[in-house]
Amino acid sequence: MTYSMAKALWPVLNSPSVAVTDLPHLKQFMQLPDESIEFSYQGLIAPGSESWSPLTELQTLNFLTSERLDSLKQSLVAVRMQVASEREMVNVPPKFKPLDAGFIDLPQRLLDQHRRKGEVSELGRIMAQAQKLRDSVDRVVILGIGGSYLGARALFDALCHSYHNELPPRMRMGRPRIYFEGNNVDNDTLQDLLDLLENNCVDPEIRDERWGAVVISKSGGTLETAAAYRIIRAELSRYYGSGPDKLRANIIPVTGLTGKLRDLCKADGYKDEEILNIPDNVGGRYSVFTGVGLVPAALMGLDVRALLLGAAAMTRRFLEEPFERNPVLQYAAVNYLMAEEFDKQTRVMAVWSKRLESLGMWYDQLLSESLGKQGRGPTPMTVVQSRDLHSRGQQHQDGTRDKIINNLSVKTTKHAPFHIGMADRNEDDLNALSRKTLADVQAAAMKGTNQAYYDAARPTTDIVLPVLSEHTMGQLMQMLMLATVVEGRLMNVNPYGQPGVEAYKKNMNRILREKPAGT
Ligand code: PA5
Repeated sequence: MTYSMAKALWPVLNSPSVAVTDLPHLKQFMQLPDESIEFSYQGLIAPGSESWSPLTELQTLNFLTSERLDSLKQSLVAVRMQVASEREMVNVPPKFKPLDAGFIDLPQRLLDQHRRKGEVSELGRIMAQAQKLRDSVDRVVILGIGGSYLGARALFDALCHSYHNELPPRMRMGRPRIYFEGNNVDNDTLQDLLDLLENNCVDPEIRDERWGAVVISKSGGTLETAAAYRIIRAELSRYYGSGPDKLRANIIPVTGLTGKLRDLCKADGYKDEEILNIPDNVGGRYSVFTGVGLVPAALMGLDVRALLLGAAAMTRRFLEEPFERNPVLQYAAVNYLMAEEFDKQTRVMAVWSKRLESLGMWYDQLLSESLGKQGRGPTPMTVVQSRDLHSRGQQHQDGTRDKIINNLSVKTTKHAPFHIGMADRNEDDLNALSRKTLADVQAAAMKGTNQAYYDAARPTTDIVLPVLSEHTMGQLMQMLMLATVVEGRLMNVNPYGQPGVEAYKKNMNRILREKPAGT
């Protein structure tokens, strides 16, 4: 096979779920490949060498022994049983409240229900509503914040084309351009978005000039999202003309079973089945596999079933596999021990792909809101490698010893790797590397960095995705959510709820409603 043939065929050979999505007539006959996530923690295990050296001394102080890890296994099994039993808990004792364990079985439940009930199932409704909006508009504004935003953003950045919104329509194949708003209070970026829409959307009769929105809020009362929705809703009415049918045709609401957003939608004429539900027992940052993440994913043209299959496979691995084959238990255990016993309170997620930076931001929230309680909890930090080796690398190599670095990498690139290639004059002296690819450079950077950290007794672990696909992202997100719950239970910290966030909300609302002096 020639190089150019191989390059052209690479995405087909290496990205099976893309092929499945794009060939719906083959979908029912094709099995998803074995794309299991791998996890390794050798980079933080003390070598156990007999002879003393300054390095072995440092490693003893900063690395785990296999014996210590072994001694935690009994507690881990007990915690796993507890987490498993929390799924069924009906009368929740006060010390477990809030308990939002619904996310654990949700992926498999959605798939089973879809198989039985098809279009009227929750997943069927999610896919149908997303398809309807995709068919009628070329741009979608997704409103939401925190857990109602970050999961969708992570999926968009990881799985869509890096320049998705700039692609010509024939390359997007009916997938609308996607914009995220309502995730901040930023007057000027919202205005910029409205300018963009106004200048590109002139005739509401033409699909390519039509736009719509998805509004996502579990509580329905989050001010950032609610305020942005008011503005977007008014803009939509201005563009299409007022009337409930215009709103209903162009906006998908995703919200909890009660709340102000639901009330507003009902007043706008939405029928119950047109509002997508976020179940009560699924917390915001654990909700990516509800309509919160699945509606945006379906709009982006992602294979939502493959996402759920990946997540469900990870739940099974967590519940059934022994520690040695259980990435959830391993990840939770080593990160927990590093924080609690070695005081590694800064938890770095080092992503080895620009596409995974938003996944890192999603994990930042998951960890902060779940474990940052009672004066405790590790501080998350996302770095993108090798970019941030040129900014934070120095500190991670030589600075305060308060970090564990979890690498997240992807084994196979989506596109055929570029070769460095030969140049006639070789001023840049790269001809010796001409047969190396960018993937080789990336792999060498990662190996070299891990080696440098090990030699300085800086603990690392490795999460490896075989490919970046819906199936592996499903596994990864479920793995990190489950591991966060396990870690919370090990720490005796409730991983659900975020009471600390309420303080700023209360103050903000009070300040906004205060009457100016003298009125
Ligand atoms: O994890 C959480 O519950 C929070 O981060 C919420 O997702 C965030 O505050 C947004 O809340 P809501 O979906 O109610 O607008």
